[in-house]
Amino acid sequence: MLDQNALKRNAAQAAVDYVLPLLGPDSILGVGTGSTVDLFIDALAPHKQRFRGAASSSERSSARMAQAGIQVFDLNDIETMPAYVDGADEIDSGLNMIKGGGGALTREKIVASVAQQFVCIVDESKLVAKLGAFPLPVEVIPMAMAAVARRLARLGGEPEERKGFVTDNGCRILDVSGLDIADPAALEARINDIPGVVTCGLFAIAGADVALVSGQQGVRQLRA
Ligand code: A5P
Repeated sequence: MLDQNALKRNAAQAAVDYVLPLLGPDSILGVGTGSTVDLFIDALAPHKQRFRGAASSSERSSARMAQAGIQVFDLNDIETMPAYVDGADEIDSGLNMIKGGGGALTREKIVASVAQQFVCIVDESKLVAKLGAFPLPVEVIPMAMAAVARRLARLGGEPEERKGFVTDNGCRILDVSGLDIADPAALEARINDIPGVVTCGLFAIAGADVALVSGQQGVRQLRA
């Protein structure tokens, strides 16, 4: 019986096998954030001569890649990337996701938007029939915390401040439980429209293109 870490490692290796054929000597790869991505970076590092470098969604991933000898590029210097690889806190069969458990949701959404495809790597515990058991992270401009919290409560959520946490963008996070996420894309648009919200952790307007889901029987590929 494989433990969760071994499952994550298998998903990470499957992602390396998936992206390597997409990369050429000039390619820049988009790299996300989290414990599964840490394992992906470790598995990718031995192949660093096969591509030019990476764009990263967090200081944490940038530091790990620099340590592994993978050159990290500023996103402003990149026009396109063949793929963006990242984990998720929850993913459904339509490849809509909740992300942001690590607090990097905004940069993740930005870097993903520049890539031609989003490759999501998860262990099977993250695959759900309906999003929402995991509290939805929402990044908020600090002066708007109370105002945004009131608006989220009106949507039926119970927002809780992630105490002592500041994002890489100098903002704060509200973790919102109790939301009914029947229509992920509609709710994403609605929350993102609240003044003071930087972005919410729903990735549904642009979800994943492929999910590599690691289970006891191996890694399977899901497409929306
Ligand atoms: C980081 O902000 C998140 O979006 C991560 O992608 C997500 O929390 C998955 O992380 P793990 O791979 O650590 O479960």
